[in-house]
Amino acid sequence: MLRTPACETLGIAHPIVQAGMAREYTNAELVAAVSAAGGLGILGCLGRPADETVAAIRRIRSLTDRPFGVNFVLLRRNRETFAACLAERVPVFSFFRGDPEEAVTRAHAAGAVTIHQVTTVAEAERAVAVGVDVLVAQGCEAGGHMGPLPLLSFLPAVVGVAGGRPVLAAGGISDGRGLAAALCLGAAGVLMGTRFLATPESPISPAYKRAILAAGPGATVASGLFDLLWGFEWPGVRVRAIRNALTDRWAGREDELADHLEEVRAECERADRKDDPEGMALLAGESVGRIDAIQPAGAIVRSVAAEAERVLREWGARVSA
Ligand SMILES: Cc1cc2nc3c(=O)[nH]c(=O)nc-3n(C[C@H](O)[C@H](O)[C@H](O)COP(=O)(O)O)c2cc1C
Repeated sequence: MLRTPACETLGIAHPIVQAGMAREYTNAELVAAVSAAGGLGILGCLGRPADETVAAIRRIRSLTDRPFGVNFVLLRRNRETFAACLAERVPVFSFFRGDPEEAVTRAHAAGAVTIHQVTTVAEAERAVAVGVDVLVAQGCEAGGHMGPLPLLSFLPAVVGVAGGRPVLAAGGISDGRGLAAALCLGAAGVLMGTRFLATPESPISPAYKRAILAAGPGATVASGLFDLLWGFEWPGVRVRAIRNALTDRWAGREDELADHLEEVRAECERADRKDDPEGMALLAGESVGRIDAIQPAGAIVRSVAAEAERVLREWGARVSA
């Protein structure tokens, strides 16, 4: 059995965390399945109202008694939802984008463990300074909003400033070999988002799941397109998604899109209603190139843990004295 300091800090059996992806991408069933299998499931609270969040938390608790988490994008935090999660005594709070000090202080006061996802060394140093318990180093291979740096060089840099705290690796990881590689780079586990979208539990549409299975290496593109469409003010930050007719038309032409926003938003809504993958926002990371089956979330946790253990044993056996 593969145990790391992240298992101790988060109270989990396997060092595998499901990313807290926004309301459209996570639900109680996915979170509970990951946690019940010994990983950590995280409910995304971006866009999720307080009453719906409390209902989801109670549903998770009806499905498993294992630890789980909630996720907040701090720059767009719904304060009512945050207060509701504190009142529900959720065991783990995870954060991304924005200064974590106030949120971490309040989560700790409620007895929770805190995770903060970082995309630069400066963000990692700040997270350490405010007492975050677990860091996530997110590489630019990641799906959704992502940072500028490739994981292979960024992860050891975060481990270097983490002051002994567990660091999870995120971005482009989908299997046990990815977990084993992350451990070799100094990580204490992995956080995966895209891999858990291709599950029966995930709430995304059937066409979106099929697009993930069909996508090969290099099938994604990072752009400012989606933040413009959603009306986010997030200069310099890009979103990684599977290439389709929508990204082929607008990625790299964001300046021109400003004059066509309403028209393109209407086209996207029509595509969502028709479940037409060519016009939808198919947020996903570079791991799509290695995902070719829909698998139950619990089976993913177990197989990633078992494969990493096997790979590490095999390589250990090749080392002579
Ligand atoms: C569809 C999607 C939505 C996401 N939403 C959020 C979010 O709301 N909050 C957050 O902290 N990270 C979010 N992320 C980023 C994840 O936390 C994580 O960094 C990423 O999924 C890791 O890369 P991977 O998708 O290649 O596994 C999202 C990622 C995806 C793919």
